[in-house]
Amino acid sequence: MLVTWMRRVYERIGRKTGIGYWEKRAKRYGARSVLNIGHTGEEMAALTERQKEILFPLLAGQLRGDERVIVDFGCGPGRFTPSLSELVRGSAIGVDPIQRLLDLAPCANGVEYRRVESGRIPVADGSADVIWVCLVLGTITEEDALGAAAAEIRRVLHPDGLLFVVENTARKPDLPHFRFRTVDAYLSLFPWAQLDVVGGYEDLGERISVLAGRRGS
Ligand SMILES: C[S@@+](CC[C@H](N)C(=O)[O-])C[C@H]1O[C@@H](n2cnc3c(N)ncnc32)[C@H](O)[C@@H]1O
Repeated sequence: MLVTWMRRVYERIGRKTGIGYWEKRAKRYGARSVLNIGHTGEEMAALTERQKEILFPLLAGQLRGDERVIVDFGCGPGRFTPSLSELVRGSAIGVDPIQRLLDLAPCANGVEYRRVESGRIPVADGSADVIWVCLVLGTITEEDALGAAAAEIRRVLHPDGLLFVVENTARKPDLPHFRFRTVDAYLSLFPWAQLDVVGGYEDLGERISVLAGRRGS
């Protein structure tokens, strides 16, 4: 009885946060599940390199040089996590709710992966110098779950820490498991972060915008 009730509660949470969808998608596509499925598995390495070439200089341009801990929020199979630890010359913590994706993530010095459970980022308050969020928020379809994720990001980020957000801002109709939000929607999601648009690129004809800013008090 209790087990059935617990399962129902978790299923309801899973549906609401899209976690159930991500579990199925990761099972079906593996590491490739984190890409626009219009990309083939063979394109994955080249696409990741292209994203690093565009995004890492933008991130480096925002760093002050004293950052040591970076959190890769929604890291999936850790496409960026080891390189992020190198970029800050410190440590990176990749966090994601999908264990199947975390299990695919590459081990490296200064890198660890932790599972997000019940929406909680398993990182202490104010302990991240930088939070990197790459193509995650559009996958959170429910506005209350999105607000909860933003609140968790704020909790974990150092009071003076840097938030770096990469999201799809194409003007397209939403999909059942994806929200095409505007730059303004992301700016207003983090009113405490003094975000600016610092760059962008096109992927399969869709605009990907890059926003960065410090938390401030
Ligand atoms: C499009 S993938 C991007 C993964 C990775 N950032 C990358 O660029 O390779 C979206 C990721 O967000 C994760 N995710 C979905 N909902 C989440 C949530 N509420 N909190 C944290 N991560 C979430 C998914 O499990 C998935 O790994």
